Amino acid sequence: MSVDLEKILRPVDSPMEPYEPKYMLLASGEAVVVRAVDRDEIPDLLKYVEPLLHVERDYYDVVASRVYAELLGHYQYRFQDQYVLAVQIDGELAAIVNGRQVNPKLGLSLHTLAFRRGLRVGAHAFAAKMEYHFDQLGHDEVLIVAESPIGFRRWMIEYKLEKRFEVPHELGGVPSWALTRELFDRARSSLVVGRRPVPPELLEKAQAAILPPSDPPTPALDPLAATRAKYDPTATALMIERWEMEGRSEDA
Ligand SMILES: CC(C)(COP(=O)(O)OP(=O)(O)OC[C@H]1O[C@@H](n2cnc3c(N)ncnc32)[C@H](O)[C@@H]1OP(=O)(O)O)[C@@H](O)C(=O)NCCC(=O)NCCS
Repeated sequence: MSVDLEKILRPVDSPMEPYEPKYMLLASGEAVVVRAVDRDEIPDLLKYVEPLLHVERDYYDVVASRVYAELLGHYQYRFQDQYVLAVQIDGELAAIVNGRQVNPKLGLSLHTLAFRRGLRVGAHAFAAKMEYHFDQLGHDEVLIVAESPIGFRRWMIEYKLEKRFEVPHELGGVPSWALTRELFDRARSSLVVGRRPVPPELLEKAQAAILPPSDPPTPALDPLAATRAKYDPTATALMIERWEMEGRSEDA
């Protein structure tokens, strides 16, 4: 009985060509590998996404919560036609991107999450997934939304996306934007970088283990400080919380 129910609950993924890994050099001189993540590696990603649920800055909390749910859904066979790519620097996790195929001609961008800031790893990761949609999966168009102003700058402005406001995006039902094949081809020379094949030693290092991000975004010392201050004009609760975080609870 339970086995039969699982057959109903578990979607059957459409055949999708696997992402062909690539590598590039960052402005810092470090080599980066972009590769597909297998389903059994998802728990390795989840443990690095989870701390970002508590980072309000730059909407990391919203994006990380959604990425966590998407990855967990994928891991437990509760998500249809999702792919996940990891960006790794010397094995270390630098970014995650995911998306899915809506139908053989239409792709959907889910999320881009950067664990290392200031190197455009997020931008490169996004470019890699768009390349996957157009060059390997053969999509004509990809539906995209931004949850943060940085995301809006990176995708809507840099790629000059077209409005598809009549189409609600799967991420919260908000109006969609679209990257068409024509727009992508125009952006290729300036925004899409990387080489194939990946030298074997680089790829092996990346596949061996997803190592923890060395400098991930962290929560502010006073979580929700602004909101709490509104209801606590003398800031007493805020001071107590700060002392507790600093291990000085005897002052509280
Ligand atoms: C959107 C995102 C993927 C872009 O990643 P990225 O291309 O690697 O860019 P960064 O986030 O490192 O940098 C963004 C800007 O902040 C600046 N910056 C640099 N170091 C920074 C730091 N330590 N903290 C904050 N900003 C920094 C960068 O210089 C950059 O400015 P620019 O746009 O003028 O180049 C990333 O910001 C992110 O993961 N944000 C949270 C989740 C999110 O919003 N995802 C997209 C959903 S639509």
